[in-house]
Amino acid sequence: MRRNWNRSGWLALAAVLILGISGCGKPAQTQVDDAALRDADSDTADWITYGRTYSEQRFSPLKQVDEQSVGKLGLAWSKDFPEIRAYEATPLVKDGVLYTTGAWSIVWALDAKTGAQLWTYDPKVPRDHGKYVCCDVVNRGVALYKGRVYLGTLDGRLIGLDAKTGAPVWDVQTTPKDGPYAITGAPIIVKGRVVIGNAGSEYAVRGFLSAYDADTGKLAWKTYTVPGDPSQPGESEALKNAAKTWTGEWWKLGGGGSPWSSIVYDPDLDLVYFGTGNAAPWYDQSRGKGDNQWVASILALKGDTGEQAWGYQTTPGDNWDYDSTQPLLLANLKIDGRDRRVIMQANKNGFFYVIDRENGAFISGTPYTDVNWATGIDANGRPMENAAIRAMKDATIVRPASEGAHNWHPISFNPQTGLVYLAVLNSASLHATPKDLKFNPHDQVTGVDRAYHGPVMDKYAKETASGTLLAWDPVARKEVWHADQPFPKSGGTLTTAGNLVFQGRADGKFEAYRATDGKPLWEFDTGVGVVAGPMTYSLDGTQYVAVMSGWGGPTVLNNRPIGKGKMGRGRLTVYTLGATGKVEIVDLPVPPIPMPTFKLAVTPAQVKDGAKLFATYCARCHGANVVSGGEVPDLRRSAESTHKSFQDIVRGGVLHEFGMASFAEDLTAEQVKSIEGYVLSRAKESAMAEAKAKH
Ligand code: HEC
Repeated sequence: MRRNWNRSGWLALAAVLILGISGCGKPAQTQVDDAALRDADSDTADWITYGRTYSEQRFSPLKQVDEQSVGKLGLAWSKDFPEIRAYEATPLVKDGVLYTTGAWSIVWALDAKTGAQLWTYDPKVPRDHGKYVCCDVVNRGVALYKGRVYLGTLDGRLIGLDAKTGAPVWDVQTTPKDGPYAITGAPIIVKGRVVIGNAGSEYAVRGFLSAYDADTGKLAWKTYTVPGDPSQPGESEALKNAAKTWTGEWWKLGGGGSPWSSIVYDPDLDLVYFGTGNAAPWYDQSRGKGDNQWVASILALKGDTGEQAWGYQTTPGDNWDYDSTQPLLLANLKIDGRDRRVIMQANKNGFFYVIDRENGAFISGTPYTDVNWATGIDANGRPMENAAIRAMKDATIVRPASEGAHNWHPISFNPQTGLVYLAVLNSASLHATPKDLKFNPHDQVTGVDRAYHGPVMDKYAKETASGTLLAWDPVARKEVWHADQPFPKSGGTLTTAGNLVFQGRADGKFEAYRATDGKPLWEFDTGVGVVAGPMTYSLDGTQYVAVMSGWGGPTVLNNRPIGKGKMGRGRLTVYTLGATGKVEIVDLPVPPIPMPTFKLAVTPAQVKDGAKLFATYCARCHGANVVSGGEVPDLRRSAESTHKSFQDIVRGGVLHEFGMASFAEDLTAEQVKSIEGYVLSRAKESAMAEAKAKH
């Protein structure tokens, strides 16, 4: 019966529910359907889609917790998760149940009042698929629709689960099976369909967005972001045009453009918006010149068919890993006296974009951090590039870093202050590519020379990194306030009608600031670094604020976290006014590096070769210079018995069920021996340095 209600009927019901919540007792059970998603803003009790509403503003009208009361906020309950990994999900809440996800795409349904576990579902992702993700085995959350929970998995499946029991109803492979694609982003619901993207542009992939019937799991449409082999039939007009902006035989390495994070929907315009990833390979020296549409772009597709409505390329001919997959935020703003329906993005490339979402017309693009690859964006929306940075004659220092001035971390917009709140990373990357590049389709195809050790290295070592929480006025195109962060990186944001901004940090602190001026008002030590976005909901008249902790991802995988972020197992903390709960603060011990006892006959030339191979194939998980961030074993500590099985582990794949894939297709036994020699030499160096430091 509910299904036949019209919009005004639903609004009347929503009004009754809201009164019901503030008046007494539990809200009636209702389904998340199209009407509920359209009107998610009026459902203050729940948080039913990734960015709370289709606009993805992450603004909550709840204000029991406000600038006056926030000082009394305390821990109501918490839940610890099994892995020392990044936890990036935004939990969803519906009718007193909180749904969240973690490492290896595992889902939990918890009682939103107590944290008691109702069910959990493990899609049993083959752990060696970790080889095919650039940036940790993460998941950003689920979608809810008509009694089901929808989950994308690291190995590229989309799964519909019964929301009551967690039992799978359907399970489809959305990407080429066992191919180097992954899903880390949350799906969204568009008129009875589940829309999902994929990741993988560090590998030889061709990105696409697809939509599946929510009921049956049947594919409704699939839209590639970049053109394929022109000799093959079936390309859309949009992609035939896009092919004119490519040169060479780009399709052989896929082209990239994977839409791995933000997907949003405007039901009034019936347009699905999403951002596309970087080009594959990264550099146009190896990829071929041209704008390469539609990598590093914002695209709009028609909801029913997936046909392209418009595209805007933020970084034409992307050369610096400037994905355009950061959060997309919809708002209606008055700009130069005109009411505009806009889409906004704080792009990795350092510019804050405001685009007309009806037609993709460029409105403004303003730097919000230090940028050296372009001097600005011209009136047509095209970046004015720094030619020396594009040329990459030698290793080149580029700002922002390839990690982005801002990345996937949720951003929020408060209609009361008119400000957008976002984490900013002000840092640089060293881009270098070897002259004699050969691509290995079984592994990453970025073309980055990760073993570069030339003269620019010294200059790069002097580059600094810093981070802020920024409050940005998208109309005046300027900063209104910022809060400096003790460590460069921090998490997603939530803003509320209580004049608050919530954000977690690398050191595990969860902070509340006054939205109008950035005054710090409250903090709580969650014990583990935060990268995720917070959310809020209301149950029986009490407002709750929730955030996932879990410090990982590329920086952690590549750096000893001490002094750079708080390492620990994933954790969800949930707060209410007056609560006084505590979490266990665990300081993971860092035992000394033992002097290796294993003897391996290798020459200095082999060790040198091993260092290069390690940087190319192993460092992204085991850490640069064999210094692990703690998520994956530090190979300087490997036991003698491990060294005896080194070839079996690295080429034989004996640990593949635990996340150590076989590299038999990538490396010869001789090359693995060189890597082992290098690992042992680093262990010796570190053990000696530590022994010396003690005396
Ligand atoms: C995608 C991430 C990833 C990459 C890339 C990777 N590893 Fe691993 N490796 C792991 C994980 C996870 C484990 C832990 C497996 C376990 O728990 O048993 C591991 C374990 C190992 C171990 C056993 C360590 C011990 O002390 O138990 C060795 C040796 C090893 N890796 C070598 C390598 C080498 C050499 C390379 C590069 C050729 C490499 N790995 C690349 C993820 C990775």
